[in-house]
Amino acid sequence: MSDNETRIEVYLDDGTEPYAILNPPERFELDAARLEDGQHLLRIVAIDSSGRRGVRTVPFEVRNGPGIAVDGLRDHDVVEGKINVLVNAYGGAYEEKWEPARAETPAPVPTWAWVVFIVVVAWALYYGIDLWRPPPQFADTPTYRSRAVTTPAARPAAHGAELYRTSCASCHQANGQGVPRLFPPLAGNPVVTARDPADHIRIVLFGAKGNTINGVTYQAQMPAWADQLSDEEAAAVINHERTSWGNNAPVVTATDVAKVRARGNR
Ligand code: HEC
Repeated sequence: MSDNETRIEVYLDDGTEPYAILNPPERFELDAARLEDGQHLLRIVAIDSSGRRGVRTVPFEVRNGPGIAVDGLRDHDVVEGKINVLVNAYGGAYEEKWEPARAETPAPVPTWAWVVFIVVVAWALYYGIDLWRPPPQFADTPTYRSRAVTTPAARPAAHGAELYRTSCASCHQANGQGVPRLFPPLAGNPVVTARDPADHIRIVLFGAKGNTINGVTYQAQMPAWADQLSDEEAAAVINHERTSWGNNAPVVTATDVAKVRARGNR
């Protein structure tokens, strides 16, 4: 049994007499209460049957007296002038009663805790403001209007411009000038600038082809949009055309569009 042939000697600090002699593996009791507070060294020497020695040292610290807290000075700090240092002592190992309040060192709240606190509060404020929706009875007051108009339904002009860009500009062009002989201009167009919007609405809903506009006959066809655009959307894009590129015709409502839609293409 090779285990029995190895012996362990345990030494404390500079001691020459072994603190314990052991047959590994074996536990022993280190009585820290009999040691002075501070740094110590445990030296473990293992000797095998042939007399070879292995050594391992374990530095450790004994604290039987009260614990000490220091605020204002840390290990290896570089300091100058007068510095304010706060010390506290609490709970020795042999005190009868442990009083937690005494372990609370009245040090100031560290800077990082304030930073975290401010960041969390700022984020909460941002989040709250971002999700805040004004109650309907206040939605149209000067305080809230700028936010309210960012919802699509509340900004027909912008909505109409967007619809024009995606549905109409490929033919009639972004500047409303159309393409000669292919797609008629809408800027200054008699149908678009007419006070009576009926033809404008009808052509957008039901399409058109083969008309002669300002002396030009167009070969291409104006598609019907009745199935693509709701009354609100049609009104928005029609009003965009009636009020852009120098056009200044009276605008229409979704109700106007609904009437033309109900009447059909005539
Ligand atoms: C595929 C190309 C094309 C697209 C897309 C298109 N149009 Fe047209 N549009 C035409 C053509 C071609 C005409 C002329 C038809 C004709 O001969 O009467 C026309 C005519 C019109 C007219 C009548 C002009 C007049 O003087 O008679 C209006 C108003 C009009 N378009 C509005 C729109 C709107 C609004 C959209 C988008 C929702 C749109 N168009 C999308 C090709 C297009």
